[in-house]
Amino acid sequence: MEAEKRLVSPYDFLTDMGFELFEKNQSLDSYVEAMNPDYLEDMGTNREMLRANYHAIHKKPEVDEKVKSILIKGGVNKDGEKEGFDILLKPGEIVSIVGPTGSGKSRLLADIEWLAQGDTPTGRHILINGVQPDEDKRYSMDEKLISQLSQNMNFVMDANVEEFIRMHAHSRNINESDLLIEKVMQWANDLAGEPFTKETPLTALSGGQSRALMIVDVAFLCQSPIVLIDEIENAGIDRRQAMALLVSTEKIILIATHDPVLALMANRRLVIKNGAIDQVIEGDEHEKRVLGDLEKMAEKMLSVRNALRMGNKITLKV
Ligand SMILES: Nc1ncnc2c1ncn2[C@@H]1O[C@H](COP(=O)(O)OP(=O)(O)O)[C@@H](O)[C@H]1O
Ligand SMILES: [Mg+2]
Repeated sequence: MEAEKRLVSPYDFLTDMGFELFEKNQSLDSYVEAMNPDYLEDMGTNREMLRANYHAIHKKPEVDEKVKSILIKGGVNKDGEKEGFDILLKPGEIVSIVGPTGSGKSRLLADIEWLAQGDTPTGRHILINGVQPDEDKRYSMDEKLISQLSQNMNFVMDANVEEFIRMHAHSRNINESDLLIEKVMQWANDLAGEPFTKETPLTALSGGQSRALMIVDVAFLCQSPIVLIDEIENAGIDRRQAMALLVSTEKIILIATHDPVLALMANRRLVIKNGAIDQVIEGDEHEKRVLGDLEKMAEKMLSVRNALRMGNKITLKV
């Protein structure tokens, strides 16, 4: 693996092909530009071919390694004291991040997004599949490892829902079949509760509908194996279904939240204090029962809200 990755210098590349070069350490372009096209033709090649062959050697393998784990290696808290935890995350897992405002929840997400290598205020290191990610992975925009579910979903685009879905599928090299559109619509409608159609203009979506669409977008129209969610407004969506959907896509999900339902739904929660992970808590049976109660209350709230909106009198038992 390492040997394959080693860079071949332009000098070695060209001399291996039989070219006689007089100066070492030039760029490929400067060698190639200086060569007489007739001479190149005699050698059975041309400038374009040489460039293409050289770049082909250095191209990354097409099939990128699958993300099997992320390791957050502890750094230091705001006082420079050592963080007590290394956290290993696996696909299909939801981890919630809780703690008071200013404690460092967003910083932890940013460390992951940036694939920190000791170069952020926390000094954390993020390892993918146990190793430090390549530099090109840190900075590449096209093959995105990580996607953010953002707070800000003001659709300014003059497009309808179907056009939006097709555009996203297309830009991420996903086959934009009618079946895919149907699947996205079905899920987005389920999550939002209030129905909308493919023809609905984006600007006409309610907050809940657009949030539902964004979640389904991350689940089905986005290849990145890691999803970061930072305190999204989640009113108007079915949180349990949304989380179940994201988990079913075998992504690693980190969610910073003050919402008790979301916090308790996670497999584990990280408690952040003074800039560092202070506790790791696994939900027990008691917490699960509390979560069940909270969800029932949320359901009641929603049904009363809908009844009020419809102009109905409230008949719910208390
Ligand atoms: N370990 C740390 N060392 C130094 N600064 C930190 C550390 N953790 C967080 N910070 C800084 O503290 C501030 C608040 O953190 P932030 O992540 O925004 O908090 P939260 O999202 O929990 O409200 C930010 O400026 C962040 O960069
Ligand atoms: Mg924050």
